Amino acid sequence: MERTLAIIKPDGTAARLIGEVIRRIEDEGLVIVAMRMELLSERKAEGFYFVHRHKPFFHSLVKFMTSGPVVLMVLEGDNAISRWRTLMGATDPRKADAGTIRRDLATDIERNVVHGSDGPDTAVYEINYFFKGDELCSGY
Ligand code: CMP
Repeated sequence: MERTLAIIKPDGTAARLIGEVIRRIEDEGLVIVAMRMELLSERKAEGFYFVHRHKPFFHSLVKFMTSGPVVLMVLEGDNAISRWRTLMGATDPRKADAGTIRRDLATDIERNVVHGSDGPDTAVYEINYFFKGDELCSGY
């Protein structure tokens, strides 16, 4: 059993894709054990994407991620990290496989609708960044 952080980004909420993304998550058999909508502050978005702070797209990414509400979720299931990454597709929607969220619904490499943790250590860090332990409703 594994957990991962999933985010529906501001382009996804603006395009009214919350239901569509959640449908795909539940159809895949991943269980949503925590969920919250939030308008991220600049500070919170910068902290979340700290590892990208020296990248040329960092400022634009933070501006985008604070431009509207996001939906934060914790997904649980066997191999949840890789299963969610497979559902999302490649970061760049032009390179994402057919049938993935990003290929079907994303605009470009920045406005790519969803985020997912890229490994077990990142998943723990990212889940703890947004959720307290008692906010996770595991095992229902
Ligand atoms: P995400 O999986 O949330 O991780 C970092 C984010 O930065 C990524 O999705 C994109 O939204 C964004 N990103 C990654 N690479 C680029 C790029 N080359 N140009 C613009 N944005 C990018």
